[in-house]
Amino acid sequence: MKSVFILYFSIAVQCIELGSTTPYPASDYSPLPDKQLLQVHMFTRHGARFPTAKSFQAHLDVANLVQSSPLFKNEQIDLGYGNTSNAGLLHPTGKSSVFEYGQRFQARYKQTNLLTDHSKFFSSSSNDKRVLQTASSFFTGMAGTDLPNGVVKNRTLDSDNDMNKSCFLYVNTPKNKQEAKAFENSIKGELASRVNSKLQLNLNDTQVSTLQDACAFQLAFGSTLDKSVCKPFDEQDFVDFALDDDLAKFYTLSYGLEPPFNSQFGCSPLAGLVANINNPQLSATFHFGHAETIIPIVTSLGLFKDAQPLRANDACLAGRQFQVTKIAPFQTNLVFEVYAGQSPSNPDLRLLMNEKPIDLPCSKNGLVSLQEFESFYQEVLTCKFDSICQNPYTTIGGSNGNTGNVSVSTDIPAIPTPTVQVPIATPPVDIPPAVFTNIPTVIPTPAVGIPAPVAGIPTPAANIPTPAANIPTPIANMPVAAPATATKAIVSSALLPFNFHFLFVLLLV
Ligand SMILES: *[C@@H]1O[C@H](CO)[C@@H](O)[C@H](O)[C@H]1NC(C)=O
Ligand SMILES: *[C@@H]1O[C@H](CO)[C@@H](O)[C@H](O)[C@H]1NC(C)=O
Ligand SMILES: *[C@@H]1O[C@H](CO)[C@@H](O)[C@H](O)[C@H]1NC(C)=O
Ligand SMILES: *[C@@H]1O[C@H](CO)[C@@H](O)[C@H](O)[C@H]1NC(C)=O
Ligand SMILES: *[C@@H]1O[C@H](CO)[C@@H](O)[C@H](O)[C@H]1NC(C)=O
Repeated sequence: MKSVFILYFSIAVQCIELGSTTPYPASDYSPLPDKQLLQVHMFTRHGARFPTAKSFQAHLDVANLVQSSPLFKNEQIDLGYGNTSNAGLLHPTGKSSVFEYGQRFQARYKQTNLLTDHSKFFSSSSNDKRVLQTASSFFTGMAGTDLPNGVVKNRTLDSDNDMNKSCFLYVNTPKNKQEAKAFENSIKGELASRVNSKLQLNLNDTQVSTLQDACAFQLAFGSTLDKSVCKPFDEQDFVDFALDDDLAKFYTLSYGLEPPFNSQFGCSPLAGLVANINNPQLSATFHFGHAETIIPIVTSLGLFKDAQPLRANDACLAGRQFQVTKIAPFQTNLVFEVYAGQSPSNPDLRLLMNEKPIDLPCSKNGLVSLQEFESFYQEVLTCKFDSICQNPYTTIGGSNGNTGNVSVSTDIPAIPTPTVQVPIATPPVDIPPAVFTNIPTVIPTPAVGIPAPVAGIPTPAANIPTPAANIPTPIANMPVAAPATATKAIVSSALLPFNFHFLFVLLLV
């Protein structure tokens, strides 16, 4: 009986898809034994977090509402969120997962001596608390001490870690959410009636969507589908959940963006990568950001790319490459290993994604020489981020020949402990808010979306081009089912999807 149960769950685990709320899929790989490792360069997303302020209270409210269901007559629902000051911060499961990743990182590269001299490190981070907390946990696991060389955090206009916030055109262009919307509209009625019949309640579509979001976070924190607010959902619901996230992210952060953003949005950190590979003073670099950081980088590298744009009504979606569950789970990371190659000026690169080797379109047997890499990605590596973004300011980042050693701070907020323990301790996953926001029909005035000016940067107001003149046609003018190529909006919403995929795998391993 028990073994049947376990078998069922090991199958279930591999099927659950959580998009950007997917728990981190840990693994263990070693550097190539027969080659000399010269450097490592890491880009990572923050670990599993509490829901952000946008959905924190809504989750608690809907949990409170479903408490009256007969499904919960013997159970007191507790999401373990603590008070609202936890919103958006790193969750304890995220903290421990990142810490353990730091430990594996140390163990993996210990023999190479690359991690001994901290003065040869360079690190930078998005200025968000959960990201700084992630950096802190990583270094504590990796070096046994917090922030061995500090984390550059005062990068308000950061084209390496915060490209979505530092790109004027992106910030001021409505996001293309129509495919995700179309998909949601096609499933939400049926989902709501199924969930309501299990709950014996009468929730509306939005409430059901919020409930599923709350469930995704519970799964990310190590719970299972048979518990708490997940009870009314099944695996198939999360296949849809993940697809919805893929459709949203595809058009807001990846190949579905308008050119040149569909290939160059992630150009700045990659230009910085090459500059750092050419810097003999460095042995390791560490960069900490968001799903909005990793997805553009992955896109500029041409990974997880399908032949056709993703469409809500495409029958072939099941076989798609572009899966946020795989690309951007919590703590997702890319590590470029630099090995001695044909000549000192032409080392070999190997890319690891979530600690497993992954082929680039230009690599052979997992390796590519720096020269081939530079020639394959020439357009990306020479892009001018500020120019494609029509920035009325200058960003800090690799595309400006600046790897951003601006200032160092150790002002890291403490990681909160939830008031209630979440049932099962598993690595964290980042579940984005499940509620889909509406596409604005009015272009926001530039002043609203512009990052706070940094000293020395010209006041935006004086230099900002009039929106009407420079911003592509808003989404309101687009035909609903228009093909991606007809889309004028360069971006879609910042929805963070979540994937349940690997959650159960982790629980079993
Ligand atoms: C939230 O909880 C923390 C401790 O867990 C406490 O320090 C803080 O004052 C609380 N904040 C609010 C708004 O209640
Ligand atoms: C950029 O990403 C951050 C981090 O997830 C998010 O909070 C923010 O809303 C995004 N901004 C835009 C303009 O997409
Ligand atoms: C769903 O119900 C909530 C709470 O009553 C309400 O605020 C919201 O507008 C409703 N949404 C829809 C789409 O009906
Ligand atoms: C970055 O700044 C730190 C602190 O000032 C310094 O120790 C380190 O050498 C600098 N790194 C680089 C690559 O310039
Ligand atoms: C961040 O940088 C800006 C501009 O360089 C500066 O005015 C500000 O004092 C810095 N803040 C911190 C906390 O270092």
